[in-house]
This record gives sequence, structure tokens and C-alpha cells, in this order.
Amino acid sequence: MDRIFLIGFMGAGKTTIGKQLAKALDYDFFDLDHYIESRFQKTIAQIFEEQGEEKFRQIEQTMLKEVGSFEKVVISTGGGTPCFFDNIEYMNNAGLVIYLQSSPEALAARLMACKNKRPLIEGKNEEELLEFIEKTLDKRNQFYQKAKHVVDMEHLSTKESIIEYSNKLATFINDLSHSK
Ligand code: S3P
Repeated sequence: MDRIFLIGFMGAGKTTIGKQLAKALDYDFFDLDHYIESRFQKTIAQIFEEQGEEKFRQIEQTMLKEVGSFEKVVISTGGGTPCFFDNIEYMNNAGLVIYLQSSPEALAARLMACKNKRPLIEGKNEEELLEFIEKTLDKRNQFYQKAKHVVDMEHLSTKESIIEYSNKLATFINDLSHSK
């Protein structure tokens, strides 16, 4: 298995799990948003503001295919990445796609603390945020459900549980690679 793609809503824990999983597999770790920021020397918020979401989605697709050409990598994608163009089919062909699933309530609680770096939810109060998550998840679920493997993140909150789960996931992925 050359590439592991982590997908899921903003605040699902893709970066946190991704770093641990890469360590456990001895793979390199890439966070797609950070990769875009360093390639373009702009924050995601700046790209949204200066060029709009449509242009951001084009950049995101191009960059996904760039990191998707690397080998032995864990890639944490942006919350919207699998939901545009043929990105989910591309990822399913290029590697193993894992969906990190959480309830809207758990996502809202995590996102309240760090929503200002995320242009789609910046400035929303708790109630508006929950409503946005429920509505957006409803549309995005059809794409998220195309992942080959689903991880329930609802109960993975402590550092210990994340390390333990990432190690289990790494064993599962190694077994999967050896059985092919
Ligand atoms: C987005 C999620 C963000 C980032 C951008 C748009 C989305 O990534 O790509 O702000 O559409 O859900 P994270 O999921 O890493 O926050």
C-alpha cells in the first residue's frame, strides 16, 4: 500500500491521526492544506479571499494529484477534497482511503476552538456552526461513504487513544498489504 488518504469533515482529526499513522507505518506525512500553503506561499484563507472557492478547488485537485504521486505516504486531505471533481475516485485508485467519522455535535465542539483559520466557518456562532455542519455533512456523506474503510472518531479524544488506534490501523494496513 503506497498511499493512505485520510478523508473527513473539518475537525475530524485527520491531521492528528495522520501524523501518528505515518509514524507507525514509517511513511512520510503530508497535510494537503499545509502542502498547498507552502507551495503557494499563502494561507488557505488568503487563497479563498483573493481567488474564491472555485479556484481553490482547482488548486486543491492539482495539488492532490501532486502529493498523490509520492510513495509511502499518509496524506490528510481537506474536508471538501473528496467532494469535488473526480477526487474520491482518484484517491480510491491511487491508494487506501480511510474516512474519519464523527457526529456533527463532536465536530462542532472541536471546531469552536479553531474556526478562525477556516474560511467556510469563520465568524459562525455555536448554533450556526452546528447547522452548517449538519447541512454540509448531509451533502458530503455520499462522497465520504465511498472510502474503503471507516474509523469512528467519536471516542478517540485522548492522546493515548489516538496513538493506540493509529498503531492498530497500521497493523491492519500492513496485513492488508501482505495479503495482496
Ligand atoms: C475545507 C476544509 C479545510 C480546507 C478549506 C476547506 C472544507 O481543511 O481545505 O478550509 O471544504 O471542508 P480541513 O478539513 O483540514 O480543515
